[in-house]
Amino acid sequence: MPRKILVTYALPYANGSLHLGHLVGFIQADIWVRFQKMQGQDCVFISGCDAHGTPIMIQAEKLGIMPEELVEQCRVEHARDIASFFVHLDNYYTTHSEENKVLICDAFKKHQDKGNIVTRRIKQAFDPEKHMFLPDRYIKGDCPRCDAKDQYGDNCESCGATYAPTDLKNPRSTLSGATPIEKESEHYFFQLEQYNDFLHQWTRDGHLQEQVTHKLDEWFKVGLQPWDISRDTPYFGFSIPGADNKYFYCWLDAPMGYVASFKNFCANQTDYSVEAYFKSDSDCELYHFIGKDIIYFHALFWPAVLEGADYRTPTAIFCHGFLTINGQKMSKSRGTFIHAKTYLDHLPPEYFRYYLATKLSDRIEDLDINFDDFIQRINSDLIGKFVNIASRSASFIAKYFDNTLSAQLSEPALFKLFVKEGDAIAEHYEKREYSLATKRIMALADRANQYVDEKKPWSMIKDPDQKNATHDVCSMSINLFRLLALYLKPILPNITEKTEAFLNVSPLVWADKNHVLLSTTIQPFQPLAERLDKTHVAALQDATK
Ligand code: 2FM
Ligand code: ZN
Repeated sequence: MPRKILVTYALPYANGSLHLGHLVGFIQADIWVRFQKMQGQDCVFISGCDAHGTPIMIQAEKLGIMPEELVEQCRVEHARDIASFFVHLDNYYTTHSEENKVLICDAFKKHQDKGNIVTRRIKQAFDPEKHMFLPDRYIKGDCPRCDAKDQYGDNCESCGATYAPTDLKNPRSTLSGATPIEKESEHYFFQLEQYNDFLHQWTRDGHLQEQVTHKLDEWFKVGLQPWDISRDTPYFGFSIPGADNKYFYCWLDAPMGYVASFKNFCANQTDYSVEAYFKSDSDCELYHFIGKDIIYFHALFWPAVLEGADYRTPTAIFCHGFLTINGQKMSKSRGTFIHAKTYLDHLPPEYFRYYLATKLSDRIEDLDINFDDFIQRINSDLIGKFVNIASRSASFIAKYFDNTLSAQLSEPALFKLFVKEGDAIAEHYEKREYSLATKRIMALADRANQYVDEKKPWSMIKDPDQKNATHDVCSMSINLFRLLALYLKPILPNITEKTEAFLNVSPLVWADKNHVLLSTTIQPFQPLAERLDKTHVAALQDATK
């Protein structure tokens, strides 16, 4: 029986375009999903827009449109960009959906019934002109330590001090310029501390990377605190049932958006149901791929929300680091903030997928793109090592052997070695050790090239007595190339599709590694990928500035 697996990637906010940082996680998850499917597992991959919150409301206001309209525009654009990187999602939905509203209201009711929700009056900064409470990021002022002007409400970019927005000198609202006042209102709190024992155990039960468990320890040491899950009007979100002008905080309904996106997917399916995947004793597997900045929401709040609402909890949360460009955080002012679309305008998506794969591991370290290294890696690995094997053999098969492979392999032992390596490579994929997988695959590519170099089909063919042997050598190298393509398929879905067409084979699955292509006809070789030139990258960098 195939494993039943549901994979999610963190829902991007619907207030702007996707950048390459978003794609890191989508691609990491997509490689894993494609690998699982090649293994014959039943794997569904969903995501969507995170639609709620103040920034989305404000952005829509700026554009003079309704938030719903902004969300839908972003949803369509995100889905397009994600698909252009060959990330195959089964659904890209939105948290602002009827399904999500029902799901989160039900869960909230369950928690209320269990006594997990309390209300309390609290004081917060309020913009008296805009008539709204101000999240910290909408308050600026002078640093209380060094007097630097125009600092955000939580830390000073000039001297590094951290503080509360109430500590700022000359505070003002970034929305209206007014001086914020303090105002009291009633808020709903989720008593996370009631889940202390459950979470303490859960975070140690193999659902998290070790680094993540350590990070969370800091929170347990300080003690889990009640979590404010409500926001006052005006806010773009779901109204809290039974409350006046109160909304659920977007981080309450965002992860429920995974369930809602899956539910929406299930509506057109017979083999999938929310019940089967999310009931407390479900035997399906649930994996959330996320960035390291949202660990707390996924590894503390979310399991507690699920547990209390009688759902299953995630099988695992897979956390990745941030993308840096030439060693630095992406920055608009430095001209290194690369939108997904800008990349796509200049460079092939699979080159980014491959480069990322050479750097990705199961750890949460940041990943750097260095563009000189990028060019060198693509040209050396993909063009010089991988594609080269096919191009140097295919011409002989076409010219002398009517595009037909020979009836035997010249070196079965070498082929066997390639097949055996497939098991180790599969294990690397399963554990999200893609950098180890690509290293192993490229070591095999070196071995295949070395084989061709030793045999020298270009000299062999000149000797009529060696014609059959030349045929065997070229067919052997095509077979090695086929295995390399199979192993790279989770990373390079499009190049592999072209390879399948070239080899005249149906879509490769992992078990196909044990087969040999003998006496079959292949198609004339078409270039599978092109060398990367400095000018392509320079054009991307120019467009970014
Ligand atoms: O940090 C973010 O970009 C959030 N929009 C991620 C939400 S993930 C999930 F919980 F919805
Ligand atoms: Zn300062």
